[in-house]
Amino acid sequence: MGTVISVTSGKGGTGKTTVSGGIGSSLASLGHRTLCIDCDMGMRNLDLVLGISDVSLMSFEDVLSERVSLDAGAVRHPDIENLFFLTAPSAIPSDHIDSGKMKAFLEKVREDFEYCIIDGPAGIGSGFRLACENADMAIIVANGDGMSLRNGQRTTTELIKLGVTNVRLVLNRVRRRFMHQIRANADDMIDTVGAQLLGVIPESRAIMKAGCTETPIVLVEEKNAKEPFLRIARRITGERVLLDRMFR
Ligand SMILES: Nc1ncnc2c1ncn2[C@@H]1O[C@H](COP(=O)(O)OP(=O)(O)O)[C@@H](O)[C@H]1O
Ligand SMILES: [Mg+2]
Repeated sequence: MGTVISVTSGKGGTGKTTVSGGIGSSLASLGHRTLCIDCDMGMRNLDLVLGISDVSLMSFEDVLSERVSLDAGAVRHPDIENLFFLTAPSAIPSDHIDSGKMKAFLEKVREDFEYCIIDGPAGIGSGFRLACENADMAIIVANGDGMSLRNGQRTTTELIKLGVTNVRLVLNRVRRRFMHQIRANADDMIDTVGAQLLGVIPESRAIMKAGCTETPIVLVEEKNAKEPFLRIARRITGERVLLDRMFR
């Protein structure tokens, strides 16, 4: 049975889509059959981050409404083996999607894939509920600032209300020297959000460049850019992987 992982944050712009694409493509490159689903109905971008915006794509709503089968609808990534993708419908609001159908759809996904990464929207409204309520694990993406940490804390509370208890934290865009200057540390951030740390991703020009050039993170040359995502993917599969030396 596969594992459904929803990526969320509360606050916009923390790097949910970057992290979804990075973890999804890393799991696939480790040999796991992985489906990435864009569930940010208003601001879909995961196709860009995965470098497949020019490919003809089906939406998860096409599959959920049985206009197409999961097998035919999930597009295989042209350059990354084991990676499949379903985009978000462009013209249907999240509260028009039947939650029972979403649950049944994700049951089918669990039968066909080892991992499913759902890229959720900002906020804690209907889109958040749709993206997260059936998750086996939720990943909160926060940056080191007080606003995203507070929003992360609120998101943890909302996830628990939805019945999602396996909640993990990814600290993204971390600048070690800056953290040191403001006397911030990862322990305090973990305490604020109230979720166990899954990984730390540094602020990186190479990660930003990958986003701008529509290059999947696992295909970039810079080891420093892709390594943090691979570490997180390996932790998800149950491997014990130490935090990057920079953040220990
Ligand atoms: N670790 C990082 N280092 C540098 N830039 C990043 C990093 N993570 C995300 N970004 C950039 O931040 C912007 C917002 O990221 P995105 O993934 O779209 O956030 P969200 O999905 O939460 O709105 C993008 O331009 C992306 O390239
Ligand atoms: Mg996004």
